[in-house]
Amino acid sequence: MRCRVCRERAAIEVRRHNAAFCSEHFIAHCREQVARAIRKHWMFRPDAHVLVAVSGGKDSLMLWDVLADLGYNTTGVYLGLGIGAYSDESREACDRFAQGRDLDLRIVDLGSEYGYDIPTGAAAARRATCATCGLSKRYILNDVALRGGFDVLATGHNLDDEAAVLFGNLVHWNVEALARQKPVLPAAAGFVSKVKPLIRLAERETAAYAVMRGIDYIVEECPMVAGNTGLRYKETLNEMERTSPGTKHQLYFGFLEHGAPRFEPREGEDPPDVHPCTRCGAPTTSDVCAFCRLREQATDPERVAVALTRGPKRRRG
Ligand code: FES
Ligand code: ZN
Ligand code: ZN
Repeated sequence: MRCRVCRERAAIEVRRHNAAFCSEHFIAHCREQVARAIRKHWMFRPDAHVLVAVSGGKDSLMLWDVLADLGYNTTGVYLGLGIGAYSDESREACDRFAQGRDLDLRIVDLGSEYGYDIPTGAAAARRATCATCGLSKRYILNDVALRGGFDVLATGHNLDDEAAVLFGNLVHWNVEALARQKPVLPAAAGFVSKVKPLIRLAERETAAYAVMRGIDYIVEECPMVAGNTGLRYKETLNEMERTSPGTKHQLYFGFLEHGAPRFEPREGEDPPDVHPCTRCGAPTTSDVCAFCRLREQATDPERVAVALTRGPKRRRG
């Protein structure tokens, strides 16, 4: 196998593009794919101040690396979820990465700043761990971006992530989620714009990029997600991709082109009645927003005491 660009020996094959690359040209290819996603989906302007959500894993650190390399003004944000050694190691990986490249990293700690951690908080609230985690991340990262005056919040969701979520949303015909499944969610009152610049790269490619660039990321996945449904959708799509390269790309980009417009709110449809949360002021359709309700349950001393006596319980997301 030879590199498509320089004809030197290839380091990686990308079957869905019917191409192979040496390390140097693979790195350039990844940067180009990110730049293309940003341009094509109007993610942000060249002078935008981008807040990059980093977890210490390959995708988010790779994203930060590429954006900084493309010359964007970036700041990283790491949210400590209190998931034992996994959280300690992921925070250290983000710290090392930021220090090594002289980039600005903000650290938010769920336990000390919001009063709960994910394992205990989810058990106290009697909710699925990943759902508790997802809601906490969405709320807090949006809040950090708004307070910090950032133009956009970028996350490291790659093609595999998006295709798997789409697959799940289609299996369950989760119409509301399908309407939101876009590479860009524009800013609205109380919400910063959110973008996913890695949608053109598969997980295997983000991992290869991270290795080739010498990014010291944490390899273990979060221990809470093992066995969750999202992972099973990923495995199914991987199996299909193996025999039909390009399946994930077709599913996801085909949906963006042909499916997504059909889930847009119809003309004349009343927009939901959104008003400020009576506790935190964030936009919500109820009196108290979903995050404030979660936080109340997750920090309730009686619920926490019961959760602690039962011990941590993994709830599937
Ligand atoms: Fe959210 Fe593991 S990272 S539950
Ligand atoms: Zn080459
Ligand atoms: Zn609230």
